[in-house]
Amino acid sequence: MTVVGAGAQIDKSRIAELTAKEEKRLNDSTTGSGKMYERAKKTMAGGVPSSYQVRDPWPIYLEEGKGSKVWDVDGNERIDYHNGFGSMVQGHAHPAIVKAVADRVARGTHFAAPMEDSIVVSEALADRFGLPLWRYVNSGTEATMDAIRIARAYTGRDTVMKILGSYHGHHDYAMVCIGVPYDDIGDRDDIPSLPYGAGIPKAVSDMTVAVPFNDAAAMERRIERLAEEGRLPACVIMEAAMMNLGVILPEPGYLEAVREITRKYGIVWIVDEVKTGLTVAPGGATEKFGLSPDMVTLAKALGGGLPCGGIGATEEVMEVVLDGSVYQVGTYNGNPLTMAAARASIENVLTDDAYAHLNMLNDRLMNGCSAVLEKYNLPGYTVGISSKGCVTFSEKKITDYESFMENQRGDLADLAWLYAMNREIFMTPGREEEWTLSVQHSVEDAEKYIAMFEEMAHDLTA
Ligand SMILES: Cc1ncc(COP(=O)(O)O)c(C=O)c1O
Repeated sequence: MTVVGAGAQIDKSRIAELTAKEEKRLNDSTTGSGKMYERAKKTMAGGVPSSYQVRDPWPIYLEEGKGSKVWDVDGNERIDYHNGFGSMVQGHAHPAIVKAVADRVARGTHFAAPMEDSIVVSEALADRFGLPLWRYVNSGTEATMDAIRIARAYTGRDTVMKILGSYHGHHDYAMVCIGVPYDDIGDRDDIPSLPYGAGIPKAVSDMTVAVPFNDAAAMERRIERLAEEGRLPACVIMEAAMMNLGVILPEPGYLEAVREITRKYGIVWIVDEVKTGLTVAPGGATEKFGLSPDMVTLAKALGGGLPCGGIGATEEVMEVVLDGSVYQVGTYNGNPLTMAAARASIENVLTDDAYAHLNMLNDRLMNGCSAVLEKYNLPGYTVGISSKGCVTFSEKKITDYESFMENQRGDLADLAWLYAMNREIFMTPGREEEWTLSVQHSVEDAEKYIAMFEEMAHDLTA
């Protein structure tokens, strides 16, 4: 990963001019979405099922997906790099998953009783992630919420430690210290516990304490201070590689240090693999970085496009569920349709060959984008692992939230999204997101992305 383009002067008015032109082009080609928005907003708040789908002046409404492609309601075809916020590493309507779901749907879709598919999936997850015991939920939010409760019960402590700027779902325990304005970050050693949005009781957000990523010494100092206050954390919940600030990789030795520190203070180490699990290696970041967490949380790719989540733990930690002290429950946990999709995905789609394909494609995409940055002297670098990656527009390497807020060129990130959307690439919205490849993406798909990126670089510097 080499940062190029430091000091390069890119005319801000040129960026603004291109942004206005591309916004108009996107709006002109998505008038059907505009009409649908007018109808939708009358009954669906903001015209969307989730606030993360809001876009001004209207969201792009989709109709269909197949393989690496999606089609919107105006009939625009795009190669999907958004992939359902990083879930669809299998690609859309994969024949193995379509068959498994079709077979299941005609034989009953919900019983709230255990079935063989859920056993097969937990056997595979135990094997892939090296954690012996698993439970299921229906989303990443439920996975991290239950994991935190289990950790609290296991340790008898209340405080939760997380990483500044990291997203772990929308429950109160984790909606803290996300999207914090730069001026409110404060002292790295004493980051205030700011709730993310309204409706979160202060008493709850105060129980969650954030520390910076890639700084094990800061983590240990904060833990020691919490210990002095009688507030030792129950858990540290974190991603091994941050996937919600573009992609930020762990510096050498950082994850090993976190494992050592959490062990030293009897803190449960929860590695949140909602984004990385099953997408960056068969056993996610746990395998990729050789980790031994106490708990892992999964969702997104696990269900192959159906709502799903999973929690893996050591026998020792999961004992609080086994002995009945924690109620880890849910009507739809281990739903037959979801489990049929998850089994088909694990057995027939996300094979060793699939990961080899993803690694090859991602390398090609990253190398292509790096070459464009270098050729046109744009400030930035490409970074990623396996199916995930992004171009980070910055004159400096970003290692945590603070350096992200300080250095990321949001104007270039916004323009890149518009260029993608107007050139047959369906890209994840938001300055914090990355691309996700699927096993059904081709070399030609990757070349199209690189060509789109080169066109933007050319137009910016012409
Ligand atoms: C790392 C991480 N954890 C948890 C979640 C929450 O998952 P869900 O949206 O399925 O509730 C997300 C969602 O993006 C995530 O990226």
